[in-house]
Amino acid sequence: MSLFRLDGKVALVTGASRGIGEAIARLLAARGARVVLASRSEDKLVAVAADIEAAGGKALPFTLDISSPAEVGDRLAELPRDFADVDILVNNAGITQDNLLIRMNLEQWEQVLRTNLTGAFAVTRALTRGMMRRRWGRVVSISSVVGIMGNAGQVNYAAAKAGLVGFSKSLARELAGRNITVNVVAPGYIQTDMTDALPQETKDGLQGAIPLKRLGAVEDIAAAVCYLVSEEGGYVTGHVLNVSGGLYI
Ligand SMILES: NC(=O)c1ccc[n+]([C@@H]2O[C@H](COP(=O)([O-])OP(=O)(O)OC[C@H]3O[C@@H](n4cnc5c(N)ncnc54)[C@H](OP(=O)(O)O)[C@@H]3O)[C@@H](O)[C@H]2O)c1
Repeated sequence: MSLFRLDGKVALVTGASRGIGEAIARLLAARGARVVLASRSEDKLVAVAADIEAAGGKALPFTLDISSPAEVGDRLAELPRDFADVDILVNNAGITQDNLLIRMNLEQWEQVLRTNLTGAFAVTRALTRGMMRRRWGRVVSISSVVGIMGNAGQVNYAAAKAGLVGFSKSLARELAGRNITVNVVAPGYIQTDMTDALPQETKDGLQGAIPLKRLGAVEDIAAAVCYLVSEEGGYVTGHVLNVSGGLYI
């Protein structure tokens, strides 16, 4: 018996051009889903899609800027027929604009909230309509342990990531009757461009604080998402799955 197959499903992953989103898209495609790769960088999306297709999967590069939430619905209405009925949404795209509160300006606050929280709201609102009609759906949003634990220098990011938890728990209650599950994955520190930007001493300090003694790999997050969006994960909703090597216990 083959577990966690996604044959016949369409998935859309935001922020699929690199890092965690790219790994999620690759795994969902490998499990049989047709995957829409959404982000702002067309060239990178085209390259990831070509790789997925070369490995026998189905992928569509699709430019989308979720920081313009008012335009997201119209843009998603342009998805071609084979990829239009999205069954699985992964809200992964996110940015940081770190600063201590005292030095943080309104623009830094608003940019992070607009992309990380309002962007997820706009994409989810546009795509859950079809899931409701078809009475099957999966929504997973990538939050962060920082949204649960807090982190000095990231009040904007932590507020947005905590916001995704309240958003998802509420939506889980709204959509359960339509057989749509809504969950959150909260990664700890994962090796990507986002964490490569941290100073070496911060990375060393972090590693010491993680009980499993390593930064996470993008594949650790992709595997958690794959479980939640699968048929087998269908009895889990409104849950926050912490994938942090024990950083948050
Ligand atoms: N790395 C970690 O340790 C860690 C820990 C906890 C949570 N997370 C969360 O996991 C998610 C992925 O993180 P990552 O480390 O893979 O980050 P990353 O390497 O910086 O990738 C971020 C992705 O988001 C996309 N993106 C950014 N702004 C966008 C916009 N306005 N519209 C559409 N796409 C946009 C980027 O694509 P384009 O530039 O092509 O638009 C890129 O694909 C984020 O939500 C992050 O907060 C990461």
